[in-house]
Amino acid sequence: MTSPLFEVQNVTLRFGGVVSLNNVSMHQNRGEILAVIGPNGAGKTSLFNSLTGVYAPQEGSITFNGEHGALSIIGKKPYRVNAAGVARTFQASRMFSAMTAFENVKIGAESHKGLGVVGAMLRGPSTRRHERETDERAWSLLRFVGLEQQANTLSASLNYGARRRLEIARGLATSPSVLLLDEPAAGTNPAEKNELTTLIRRVRDEMGVSILLIEHDMKLVMSLAERLYVLNFGSVIAEGAPDEIRSNPAVIEAYLGSSDAGTAQGGL
Ligand SMILES: Nc1ncnc2c1ncn2[C@@H]1O[C@H](COP(=O)(O)OP(=O)(O)O)[C@@H](O)[C@H]1O
Ligand SMILES: [Mg+2]
Repeated sequence: MTSPLFEVQNVTLRFGGVVSLNNVSMHQNRGEILAVIGPNGAGKTSLFNSLTGVYAPQEGSITFNGEHGALSIIGKKPYRVNAAGVARTFQASRMFSAMTAFENVKIGAESHKGLGVVGAMLRGPSTRRHERETDERAWSLLRFVGLEQQANTLSASLNYGARRRLEIARGLATSPSVLLLDEPAAGTNPAEKNELTTLIRRVRDEMGVSILLIEHDMKLVMSLAERLYVLNFGSVIAEGAPDEIRSNPAVIEAYLGSSDAGTAQGGL
């Protein structure tokens, strides 16, 4: 049996008196589209930050079994975790708004070559071959997400749906094994949500990249995820397939008792 891609064991993360992850254990199988859901403040972003080296939990272990073998994540810097094959998008967009769509994806591909984002921008003359390869990679990713026509549009001028797709292209520029998406449909309309659902499934099916997803929109998450974990107050309260989660009394209780009830109730 192959080892899971991510293995999280008994992870606890505290900020002063606040426990944002409480003895969390979970795993992601290779090739899986996995989702983490839960009310606001449940610890979803904290979990993502712990999986990507942004936060270092005080207790527990996180192992990533990537192409280069097993990596113990806690205590590793985000660039190391990224180089091992873990890419992410952010809840609040960190796109360079004064750059074009093409430039944003290219920066992602360049930073993967070990120059870092600033190094990539300040980089002196490089070989033509290297330049051509990064350009080709950026173009093929823009085509993949359907933004070829808007390659030269400033990121700030793109609509929400296009910006979300550009973030996915930039995440893929580092050739990851797994892509972590923090609320990829935030701010989008129903048509854009449908496009994103299709795109995220294609990332897994056509590129073989595993997907780990945080999402508030229940319709999107239930149609996309093969398995889900539910967090509440920093603890895992349920795990299972969409149908199991929908009918889980603890999950219904967590959502009905929160300010998310209005949005989640109808969708669960
Ligand atoms: N950098 C931080 N400093 C202090 N508290 C934090 C920090 N990051 C997260 N928290 C706390 O951890 C808890 C979970 O937050 P978060 O992971 O953002 O939840 P979610 O993404 O599910 O809404 C909250 O109580 C939040 O205030
Ligand atoms: Mg969050």
